[in-house]
Amino acid sequence: MSEILRVTDLVVSYGHIEAVKGINLTLNSGEITALVGANGAGKSTTLLAISGLLKSVRGQVLLDGTDLTRLSPHRIVRSGVVQVAEGRAILTTLTIHENLELGAYTRSDKAQIAQDLDWVYTLFPVLKKRAAGLAGNLSGGEQQMLAIARALMAKPRILLLDEPSMGLAPLLVREIFQILQEINRTGLTIFLVEQNVRQALRIAQRGYVLETGRIVLADNGENLLHNPRVIEAYMGG
Ligand SMILES: Nc1ncnc2c1ncn2[C@@H]1O[C@H](COP(=O)(O)OP(=O)(O)O)[C@@H](O)[C@H]1O
Ligand SMILES: [Mg+2]
Repeated sequence: MSEILRVTDLVVSYGHIEAVKGINLTLNSGEITALVGANGAGKSTTLLAISGLLKSVRGQVLLDGTDLTRLSPHRIVRSGVVQVAEGRAILTTLTIHENLELGAYTRSDKAQIAQDLDWVYTLFPVLKKRAAGLAGNLSGGEQQMLAIARALMAKPRILLLDEPSMGLAPLLVREIFQILQEINRTGLTIFLVEQNVRQALRIAQRGYVLETGRIVLADNGENLLHNPRVIEAYMGG
């Protein structure tokens, strides 16, 4: 299993509040890695630091050994580390098709872009059916799908997701997680941040449990799913 991303001794603060207190984690190429924990644990802060949207106080984010820590968010996207937009932040006054085209803005390989567009429309048939419609008219779940599809159009090497299940009905959560597995089966590395611990660990090959800015458990998804400490703390005993 080859490593693609490594986070070492990462510390991130908001003023005097240390939200991430020196964490280490690695993503293996082609795997789904989950970072799970309660509200306020520091999951989003970790992702924002990887994306370069928050500057770390200490530590490194290494992509294939190259330090991303000092790169701008834009450069980090270009290097292939792409976060699905927070809060379904799609462009509501543009069509679904236009949103997807914008996802490919860093690319110039027209034939490959067209191929990827076909692929995301296959993954999300509802988006294809409504391609010419305004993104603002989609439901919350469909907007989440569009946000994922748009990130895929950037042709990421690593897809970062911050709680894609948030606010969605259980059936829709299952559908989105199934699609994430399908995306992963094409070989794409996924870093999935979730409060929905059970669902996330079910699809993750590897997982980390974050508690108040520290990683307290690291194991494969299956072992974590059956770990008494995880069950007690996150799955209602
Ligand atoms: N903009 C901010 N300013 C100050 N504190 C923040 C800010 N964002 C998050 N925090 C604090 O940092 C900690 C981690 O937050 P966050 O990374 O959002 O957790 P999670 O995503 O796991 O819910 C929490 O204690 C939170 O209150
Ligand atoms: Mg969060």
